[in-house]
Amino acid sequence: MDVDNPELSSTELPVLTKYVFVCQNRTCLKQGAIAVLAGFEAKATSAFVVIGSGCLGQCGNGPMVRILPDDVWYWRVRPEEVLAVVERHLLGGKPVEAMRYSQVCSMVRQLE
Ligand code: FES
Repeated sequence: MDVDNPELSSTELPVLTKYVFVCQNRTCLKQGAIAVLAGFEAKATSAFVVIGSGCLGQCGNGPMVRILPDDVWYWRVRPEEVLAVVERHLLGGKPVEAMRYSQVCSMVRQLE
């Protein structure tokens, strides 16, 4: 909180940390999610937190990775692709478009 500006609310505070959810449920595990999680954990910095999550609801398209608060999803992530996500998205601020999972976007649009 800005002590010099008591009017600043908590919703105006910048988000300093990204959260990387790597599905560790059955289907994603069969598709190599343990190695993907280990890859993110090995590259972890204070810029992001890595979490082995339960099912992200996109079974069969994994290993699935969801990054918040950006709400960017990556699918079929291979361990050798983790470095690109870390360097370009988590540290560089630009999602890796070629790896993004677009099905989620279309599903959300259908619900609106
Ligand atoms: S098992 Fe990974 S999304 Fe469902």
